[in-house]
Amino acid sequence: MRDSQLNDTLVLHVLGARPNFVKAAPVISGLAELGVRQGLIHTGQHYDALMSDVFFVDLNLPEPLANLAVGSGTHAQQTATLLTGLEEVMLREQPGLVIVYGDVNSTLAAILVCAKLGIPTAHVEAGLRSFDRSMPEEVNRIVTDALADILFCTSPDALSHLAHEGVSPSKVHLVGNPMIDSLFSALPKLDPAPVQERLGLSGRYAVGTLHRPANVDDPASAKELVDAVLGVAEHVPVIVPLHPRGRQRLAEAGLVDGPALKIVEPLGYVDFLSLVRGAALVLTDSGGVQEETTMLGVPCLTIRPNTERPITVTHGTNRLVTPAQLPAAAAQALVDGASTPSEELPVLWDGKSGLRIARVVAAWLRGENLSPAARGTVG
Ligand code: UD1
Ligand code: UDP
Repeated sequence: MRDSQLNDTLVLHVLGARPNFVKAAPVISGLAELGVRQGLIHTGQHYDALMSDVFFVDLNLPEPLANLAVGSGTHAQQTATLLTGLEEVMLREQPGLVIVYGDVNSTLAAILVCAKLGIPTAHVEAGLRSFDRSMPEEVNRIVTDALADILFCTSPDALSHLAHEGVSPSKVHLVGNPMIDSLFSALPKLDPAPVQERLGLSGRYAVGTLHRPANVDDPASAKELVDAVLGVAEHVPVIVPLHPRGRQRLAEAGLVDGPALKIVEPLGYVDFLSLVRGAALVLTDSGGVQEETTMLGVPCLTIRPNTERPITVTHGTNRLVTPAQLPAAAAQALVDGASTPSEELPVLWDGKSGLRIARVVAAWLRGENLSPAARGTVG
């Protein structure tokens, strides 16, 4: 092993939004274990303390080298500001490899900047597809995967999507799910009782998270969604740690505190997953929460017409529902109890994905030809 190569080259992680932090933490600790020189750039896409700072504490993330404070805006405004900000960062830091995560606008901007500057990139969570280009994330996924040099996949379906899109298999690695690594690490800290007590919950409850533009941006869709959540609240108390995106629209549509409905600020990572661990049911339109409920064995109703994470349906506890179907589906899920998750979690969702990714990155930094075994499933 020539460790100098791991020290000489800077590996830069570009993170911007809540789910990025959760996915990056195990990769950063895996690379640290192997002695790789690394740094983190926060784009500032998410900036509220409860959408950002709390994750740095809960996940023990290192201080960013820079925060670009891009803030909010239209897609074009946000992406354009990210492009110029990230270009400056790349020219200054001269990284040997940039790692991007998931499917947010910060991911898209970073991959574009690096592609134009000739900086090699790796994409964590490559190959997921909802086949719904009305989702901004789907556009980000397609562009990111077309440009990335190393692609890390969380599930076998992602491998076939990439093959179908003509991505060379030599760039692709099935490594499992780093978001599940973070969950494994947090598990000993996930105690529902204190957070239930703080939020005044006793007995059974459902947890809701809502933030997809298709659900919360349009007043008519927001109203349909809120009516559905109120329908669930007739069966079980519902607590919603509300993402800031939908705050105003959903309140206007009637999502307000009531006897069986509690609306709170977004929760920190450990508090949120503690609450989910103790829940009878989860209602969500989140990507990551579909995966976390699969691991925790909590029934999950995903209020979307499609999912880029079908493995959570075939292999987990997840079910897609329309708002109209939600109340009855919730009532049924409460009767069925802990649903019937598969005996085993999806392949390689074992808490070791961060280290697998780190090993591939270290081999790449050393200029090694990755073995055929490493190219398929990385053991
Ligand atoms: C973004 C991602 C989405 C991801 C989600 C995770 C894109 C296109 N979307 O959506 O894929 O699922 O993050 O949570 O990148 N806001 C605040 N405070 C914050 C951040 C946002 O108040 O700290 C509000 C602003 O009003 C902003 C809105 O939320 O306009 C949307 O934020 P933005 O980052 O653009 O998209 P998200 O909906 O958060
Ligand atoms: N999450 C959290 N607090 C909350 C809601 C979600 O810590 O109040 C965590 C959740 O456990 C998961 C991540 O945020 O790890 C998912 O982020 P989000 O749903 O915003 O994004 P998506 O996965 O849909 O892109």
